[in-house]
Parts: sequence; C-alpha cells; structure tokens
Amino acid sequence: MKLAEIQAALLADLADVRTDEALNLVRARYTGKDGLVTNLRKNVDFSTMPIEEKRSFGGAFNDLKSTTDEAIRQAAARIAASGAHDVVPFDFTLPGTDHRLGAIHPILSTQIEIEDIFRSMGFQVFAGDEAVSEFENFDALNIPGDHPARDMQDTFWLENGMVLRTHTSSMQNRALRKLGAPVRAIFPGRCFRNEALDITHENTFYQLEGLMVDRDVSVANLIAVMRDFLSQVFRREIEVRLRPGFFPFVEPGFELDFKTTLNGVRRWVELMPCGMVHPAVLRNAGIDPAEFSGFAFGLGLTRLAMLKHGVPDVRLFNKADLRFCQQFHASL
Ligand code: PHE
Repeated sequence: MKLAEIQAALLADLADVRTDEALNLVRARYTGKDGLVTNLRKNVDFSTMPIEEKRSFGGAFNDLKSTTDEAIRQAAARIAASGAHDVVPFDFTLPGTDHRLGAIHPILSTQIEIEDIFRSMGFQVFAGDEAVSEFENFDALNIPGDHPARDMQDTFWLENGMVLRTHTSSMQNRALRKLGAPVRAIFPGRCFRNEALDITHENTFYQLEGLMVDRDVSVANLIAVMRDFLSQVFRREIEVRLRPGFFPFVEPGFELDFKTTLNGVRRWVELMPCGMVHPAVLRNAGIDPAEFSGFAFGLGLTRLAMLKHGVPDVRLFNKADLRFCQQFHASL
C-alpha cells in the first residue's frame, strides 16, 4: 500500500469509530507492532536507498506518522467528548434488580416461636411421623377399635393399615417409650382428617402437642404452664379457665379457654383441649402410673396462627398463594 492510500484508509476508519474499543482496534491496525504504518518503516532498507529517495521517503513517512498520530488523538478527544467511552448506556429511570427474599409461612413462624417458649421452660422438641400405626393413633391412647371416640375423627386409612395421624397425640406413646419418665416434650406437626372444608375446617392442619410427666404433676402445673405460655405468645397477662372436656386419653379432661377481645367484645375463647394423662396411656408406654402423673395438651397450631395474625379463612394457609405468605415477612 502506498503512503497516500494508508492515510486515506486510516481517515475513513477513524470516521466510523465511536468507542474506545473501536479506536484501540484502529490504532493497533495502523500504529501497532504489526501495524500498516509501522511496517512501512520496517520494510524499507535505508542502507541501499539512494540519498534522494531516502530524503523524500523520510519526509513523507514523517508526515504520515504525524498525521496518523494527530488523527487518532482527535478521534480519542471526540469519543471522550461524546461520553461514549462509557459504552454501557445507563438509564437511571429503569427499575432495579429485585432480589426477592423468601417469607416464612405464618404457621411455621408461629411454631418456631412456640418451640422457643417451651424450650425456655425445659421442654424438648420431639419429631414425629405423619403416617403412624393404628395403635399409636388410637389404641395406645385408650381408644380401642370399638370405641365411639374413633368416630370423632374422620380418618384417612392407608392400604397397609396405617393411618395419616388425626392428631399429634399419636406421638405420645412413642415419646413416652423413647424418652421415658420424667419427661417434658412438645411435638408439633401436620395432621389429617377427612373433613368437609369451610372457613374453619381443613383436611390438613397443624397441631402442637405437649406432654409433661413427672412425680406429683397436678392440674395446678397444667394451668401454670398454660398461662405462662399463652402470656408469652400474646405478650400480655392471659387469664385461662378450664371446662370439662372428654378425651379418652386424659382423665380428667378439659377444654382450656382464654380471655380475649374478639370483634370488640371481651369474652372467653376456646383454645385448647388438655387434661391429666390417663393411667392407661402411661401403662401402655411402660410407665407406672402409681409413681408418675402428667398432663397433656393439644394446641391447634393452625388455629393459633389464625388468631395471632387475624387470618379469616383456614384454607388460605394451604393454598400456596405467595401473596398470602409474603404478608408475613416481618412476623418472626
Ligand atoms: N388430640 C386431641 C385432638 O386432636 C386433643 C388433645 C390433646 C386433648 C391432648 C387432650 C390432650 O382433638
């Protein structure tokens, strides 16, 4: 290529250059180590060149070199002035990248809170299974096959004879056998009943069972623990009362109510069934009822979460609707 051609090509290339990256490519193409301008000089053998030619080539080459440098410098200035060296156009009005945090389901957050309270009172958390034996769900709890109490819980039976536990009381026998007496344990978990669904009935719901067995445990201990527990959950002094209630695995059995304001009216609200562990239940787990006594309670975890968060329809919990769960971000 002749000098004039190189110069023309350079100017044409520079005219198209808009960014620093593009300019660097042009610079390399002409003045880089293997550039067109650089090579011109390298390929000439001055030792054999007549002096006249040497002079005219030298002058032309120097002109080309300075024109090249100046043109590149001007292009760089033009790019800098256009702001295009920040090649990524940044639009400050675009919405940011949204990093979504997960939310803890309100039933789980309620469960975690309750576990913490009971742990502070010396209870341990005992894990259970959702499918249990008929014995664990019924017979061990003093509910034999022909007992009418079985009708109170419309049960899902599995083909292998096991049941989807209808209550967390199904863990009582296992916990008593495994942990022995004395014991303080809670067992939260999912339970199942073949219910007709409405705003207060679900076929899948959560309970939290509590069990305390020791020497000389009485109803007074039951009341004290429940009152202390509820006062911590609701963060105020809670009044409780017991009414008689029937469950084959407790004797005496109670319904525990607590006093609260619902819809502007101060009244007793039924909260949890409980009672003194029936001697037969202790015996079924190999514990001597002459030495040990205890209390048990079955807290409706789903119901408590409804009360705590003002959830009007129990079916919302299992709908997997993120708009529902996301409201509870800060509730832990
Ligand atoms: N398991 C019983 C129910 O689901 C509740 C209960 C638990 C009652 C513990 C007494 C003691 O209805």
